[in-house]
Amino acid sequence: RKKNKIMKRIKISELTNSEDFGSEVVVMGWVRTVRVSKNVAFIALNDGSSLRNAQIVADFSTINEDILSRIHTGTSLSVVGKLVESMGKGQKNEVQATKIEVLGDSDPDLYPMQAKRHSLEFLRENAHLRFRTNLFGAINRVRHHMIFAIHKFFNDRGFYNVHTPIITASDCEGAGEMFQVTTFDINNPPRTPEKEIDWSEDFFGRQTNLTVSGQLEGELAALALSQIYTFGPTFRAENSNTSRHLAEFWMIEPEVAFADIHDNMDLAEDMLKYLVQYALDNCAEDLEFLEQRLINEEKEKPQNERSAMTLREKLRFVLDNKFERITYTEAIEILKNSPDQKKNRFAYPIKEWGADLQSEHERYLVEKHFKKPVILTDYPKEIKAFYMKQNPDGKTVAAMDVLFPQIGEIIGGSQREEDLDKLTTRMKEMNIPAESMWWYLDTRRFGTVVHSGYGLGFERLMLFVTGMGNIRDVIPFPRTPKNAEF
Ligand code: 4AD
Ligand code: MG
Repeated sequence: RKKNKIMKRIKISELTNSEDFGSEVVVMGWVRTVRVSKNVAFIALNDGSSLRNAQIVADFSTINEDILSRIHTGTSLSVVGKLVESMGKGQKNEVQATKIEVLGDSDPDLYPMQAKRHSLEFLRENAHLRFRTNLFGAINRVRHHMIFAIHKFFNDRGFYNVHTPIITASDCEGAGEMFQVTTFDINNPPRTPEKEIDWSEDFFGRQTNLTVSGQLEGELAALALSQIYTFGPTFRAENSNTSRHLAEFWMIEPEVAFADIHDNMDLAEDMLKYLVQYALDNCAEDLEFLEQRLINEEKEKPQNERSAMTLREKLRFVLDNKFERITYTEAIEILKNSPDQKKNRFAYPIKEWGADLQSEHERYLVEKHFKKPVILTDYPKEIKAFYMKQNPDGKTVAAMDVLFPQIGEIIGGSQREEDLDKLTTRMKEMNIPAESMWWYLDTRRFGTVVHSGYGLGFERLMLFVTGMGNIRDVIPFPRTPKNAEF
């Protein structure tokens, strides 16, 4: 027989639902607030298992003063107590503490996360501790559920997850926005007789970089396994300090053999709707909290700038509407004739066919014109990557961008050029070194087939689902220009 039976910790998400009154429980967590009244202290304890706190009642006659004086916001505790029905509003039960152990002290004068509302800016500067707020607890739980849902969606449809390399020698998007990977002493790299840097001496015997997309390798796998997806970290050294760009983000890239651009659009629409539905079904409590946060934020805005829909109404709105599918050419006509163009409300007015669309244009189409998600197809080949399927008109490619309210582009994809001659001709035109991409071209040499795929920016999805306004807040440790703390 065991002498000291060590009781198992109960998660607070479970505890708060329990009606097992009279039972003895052990809870552990971090103190959110302490309130003292007469002879008792009320302690709200959170362990991240949900938004809900355990309500701990510490009677001064049971818990000694030395312990009580050490309990502050941020202190970690282990509490043994009796579960009793709560008379207070907002909770089923509370724990009448019989024993409290301080696991880790937290100096109230030094702890940055006080029991009040902090600005998002302040929380970014304290990203190491912001997990301990209601807001970042909610965001990170939703983030987990979305990751899981993505794997589930593809697994249920018979897709295989493929790990594509993080270090590569190619630039899939051809934008040259890459972080270099080298083991050279940058002050003294080996040089050729011509005094150029001798990359053949570097770790991989060539110049390498962090991947901007797993697509090229994903295509190789799809042209054997038929349906694959990647879900990996993606790196872009674009110096755009916006609320929608990260230097390090996560991208989901399905690639499907025997599928054309229409199949690709269907898959993208099905996936987005599935993920939004999954969030509504599995993150109800956190979404309700995020929704309330938005409602409070909106109250501070002038009436005409307030959103007519709540967060969950916006999510349901995506489920209830078929995405509008139009061509780039049609979109340019709409934009040219739009009141925003005529009244000079665009920072970048649309000049002519061929112009790249800015997020203000994308949002105009979605939020003002169609009032639903839009899939734009058949972009001018000049503004898209080399691998896209060339349309018979000689001017456009079978690209597809999915545009969302608030976000603009959430997905970018295309049917791929499967014809070897057309592909190599286009690569020459765009100065893409075909020799070093022999492996990619081999799939077009040997058993090429029609195939398509796309990339979903995971943090852009997170922006939409959580209603957060800045991409730095939907990834735990954002990497942006001049910022790699933590
Ligand atoms: O449109 P992009 O550049 O497409 C590709 O990389 C293709 N190779 C995908 C494919 O066809 N397999 O990027 C895809 C998506 C964008 O629509 C956007 O959601 C996201 O990735 N994205 C970013 N998200 C955060 N920060 C950035 N800097 C991003 N750049 C792209
Ligand atoms: Mg794109």
